[in-house]
Amino acid sequence: MMRQRLVAGNWKMFGNSARNQLLLEGLASQVATIGKLSCAVCVPFPYLYQARSVLAGSGVGWGAQNVSQQPKGAFTGEVSVSMLADFGCRYVIVGHSERRKLFHEDDQLVAAKAKAVLEQKMTPIVCIGESLDERERGVTEGVVSRQLGCVIKEIGIDGLLRSVVAYEPVWAIGTGKTATPEQAQRVHAYLRKLMSEQDAGVARHVTMLYGGSVKAANAAALFAMEDIDGGLIGGASLDLNEFMSICKAAVR
Ligand code: 13P
Repeated sequence: MMRQRLVAGNWKMFGNSARNQLLLEGLASQVATIGKLSCAVCVPFPYLYQARSVLAGSGVGWGAQNVSQQPKGAFTGEVSVSMLADFGCRYVIVGHSERRKLFHEDDQLVAAKAKAVLEQKMTPIVCIGESLDERERGVTEGVVSRQLGCVIKEIGIDGLLRSVVAYEPVWAIGTGKTATPEQAQRVHAYLRKLMSEQDAGVARHVTMLYGGSVKAANAAALFAMEDIDGGLIGGASLDLNEFMSICKAAVR
């Protein structure tokens, strides 16, 4: 069985119209050369229009980095799932560690967002991962199982089939300290085992990405691991050549 492989860029709060244009046009023109792989970018809200225009018909997916869990209402500054769906987004990142930490998003909120995204027939990219302190205390498995468990409780085990799970150890994000392929694989295998305790068929099919200092130089070794189906790429997704090389490394 082949799981869908995916490399998604998370631009975070970077970019401007001129630079995005070059990057998006480059992606649109080069992506056809990399064979059977899904590739996507998650961009800041003001650039969704640009992503949609430039990537139309290219095969490169696109989406947002966050969304409100509320359907509508007096929530100044928030963006709803129906707005993103109406606009044509395919992907929405939920529960990124930066949002959990800096914007105090807890497991319940992240799970509610994942559910809201699925209800609008978009694909949530659900991020989970332990902090350095948690890894050093030896509680990595407890943390990721709590984070994933909360999402499964909300969307059901079947909901994972229409989602993407991204394991991003917080200590590896933006630090240049990538998890070794074996470290990442160990957690991915553990997560797949947890899923298979509820439904083995679902566990086999869920696309699981690794994120945290993925670069062209380390991507192939990570993506060669049995339970790693691609990557969620921060800094390196802002560089066309680097991102394209990472995409190529994910092709099996
Ligand atoms: P870096 O690739 O910059 O470490 O970021 C990873 C990440 O947070 C992707 O969501």
